[in-house]
Amino acid sequence: MRVTINTIKGMKSKGEKIAMVTAYDYSTAKIVDQVGIPLILVGDSLGMVILGYETTIPVTMDDMLHHTKAVVRGTKRAMVIGDMPFMTYQISIEDALRNAARFIQEGGAQAVKLEGGVTVAERVRRVVECGIPVMGHIGLTPQSVHQLGGFRVQGKTSEAATSLLEDATVLEEAGAFGIVLETVPAPLAALISQRVSIPTIGIGAGVGCDGQVQVINDILGSFTDFVPKHAKQYARLSDIIQSALAEYYDEVRAGRFPTDQHSFSMDESILASLE
Ligand code: KIV
Repeated sequence: MRVTINTIKGMKSKGEKIAMVTAYDYSTAKIVDQVGIPLILVGDSLGMVILGYETTIPVTMDDMLHHTKAVVRGTKRAMVIGDMPFMTYQISIEDALRNAARFIQEGGAQAVKLEGGVTVAERVRRVVECGIPVMGHIGLTPQSVHQLGGFRVQGKTSEAATSLLEDATVLEEAGAFGIVLETVPAPLAALISQRVSIPTIGIGAGVGCDGQVQVINDILGSFTDFVPKHAKQYARLSDIIQSALAEYYDEVRAGRFPTDQHSFSMDESILASLE
């Protein structure tokens, strides 16, 4: 049985912290699921850490569905949340419904996430009314990076903080089951977390959130372009991969790989008959 939105909401009521991490492929999702992490986000961050774009903006529905299907195949228990890409929900409510439905129907996800607060509240309401759980995402919303003037901390002025509080409240009223708070001062994120009854999942938003989300490549150290301030590296996979590949490269060139252990034998008499 997969984790449901009731499980997640119940965790907030019980004061249990909620862990969420991104995944983009079958093998990684399987490990995340085995660890027991309840929420997996197929984030549009895949545009940056998997596809090598500078922002998440070029990511398409086809990209997202391709990776969502792989993550769903790798999981049995975690709730898989598909991240709606740029301009797949902003233009019209119809677009939002159609594309959210694709994540559930074609991708096999159990929920979707979309960026924005007051401006997308009506879309959230309609998608939820159609039976699709929605997670909101406010603060630093990377799809608006050009409008925000870069990847910077949000909600630092009294006006900006007030509007983030309003965004969170409106998302809750619209039926969102949770809200990602990205790159928001920790005290503000803690206040928002107290004001709404649905779980807040922070990234660069301090320990006062109800849960935390991280991009898996950041915390495992496999994305080497930069390390965001909010990311703790629990491993340095890039170093491990680099040294393993250097060893493989050396062994192939020296003829030390493959050995008998990695090769297949055959009946000597058959071989002799060929010679
Ligand atoms: O795309 C993503 O990975 C995200 C998280 C950073 C929340 O939106």
